[in-house]
Amino acid sequence: MKRVAIVGFGFMGKTHFGAWKKCRGAKVTAICDRDLSQLTAKVEGNIKGAADNSRVPASVKVYDDFDRMLAAGGFDIVDVTLPTALHPRAVIAALGAGCHVLCEKPMALKLADCDRMLAAAKKANRRLMIAHCVRFTPVNVYIRRLVESGEYGSVVAADFSRFIAPPKWSPRGSGWFLDEKRSGGVLFDVHVHDADFIAGLFGRPRGVYTAAHRGRGGFPDHTTTVYSYKNAVVTSDSSFAAAASLVWDATGRVFFEKATVYFGPMYKSPVKVYPNEGRPFVPKLPKKSGYEAEVAYFLDLVEGRVDRPFFTAEDARGSIALLLAERRSSARRK
Ligand SMILES: NC(=O)c1ccc[n+]([C@@H]2O[C@H](COP(=O)([O-])OP(=O)(O)OC[C@H]3O[C@@H](n4cnc5c(N)ncnc54)[C@H](O)[C@@H]3O)[C@@H](O)[C@H]2O)c1
Repeated sequence: MKRVAIVGFGFMGKTHFGAWKKCRGAKVTAICDRDLSQLTAKVEGNIKGAADNSRVPASVKVYDDFDRMLAAGGFDIVDVTLPTALHPRAVIAALGAGCHVLCEKPMALKLADCDRMLAAAKKANRRLMIAHCVRFTPVNVYIRRLVESGEYGSVVAADFSRFIAPPKWSPRGSGWFLDEKRSGGVLFDVHVHDADFIAGLFGRPRGVYTAAHRGRGGFPDHTTTVYSYKNAVVTSDSSFAAAASLVWDATGRVFFEKATVYFGPMYKSPVKVYPNEGRPFVPKLPKKSGYEAEVAYFLDLVEGRVDRPFFTAEDARGSIALLLAERRSSARRK
């Protein structure tokens, strides 16, 4: 049984707590949040369910200071669900303490920090995985399988959209999310999901063209990117500027030679396949959430059940390099 400590018990901390509770072979034994009121707060983010995980059993040790939790020990895995700018320090400290680390996306805001995190994992000889839940979401796993199997031929074009209203669930409201220095803005917080998925599907593009809208205070709140690939046209729209009543969604289309696949709206019809031959159909997908699948995969990694990981922390670093190229592209168009 692997023992897990979670640091940062907001929306994602609670969501991961729910996923770990469903993971056989692992048990959350410690939780840290600098704001202890978060231990009982019924936080609900853009995806429902976090509030259901806001009750922490008495058997879980509770801390308001991460360094004290690390010094006390009693766990094998640290799950970092802190605001993004705090990822590097927490990850490096946890690896240094001999723990395996699962860390929320995005890995970090700077490549130098990604490199320090990778070096720390190597030095400690411990697993580091970045929690890119989209790589594990049933819709995306299904799309990846269609691309890799070539069942409908190769991909001609694909477009991905992901949008969210400015988050209000944080203890201090939208604070860190709407501060580019702490969240990286829409590129690093929202678009990173699709940028990482696209890079995983098609490899590193030959070039990117990104246009960005900057809202109040110069905050980058909407981007459109065109990725240049030899044989496919791929685009991605991402927004932090969706209306509050819309909350969030992720939609898209993949145009194969022999079928078109639609996905979204996520709350209604996750995926539908329109083959050139035959009738459209809705494939049956597993019910497991991306969060449940990612923690189960991480446990498999830690316990040596994965020979060749399909996704590594180096890949997550590559996604940060891609985002930085997109940011440079949008800056050239100011
Ligand atoms: N994968 C996804 O679907 C998804 C969705 C939302 C957020 N995220 C990512 O998850 C991370 C956290 O986002 P969130 O929505 O949970 O944010 P949040 O603001 O809801 O939660 C962060 C928590 O960290 C705590 N905290 C802050 N500083 C701390 C410190 N020094 N020590 C201990 N606790 C501290 C806060 O009190 C808060 O409870 C971010 O990197 C974000 O990009 C991922």
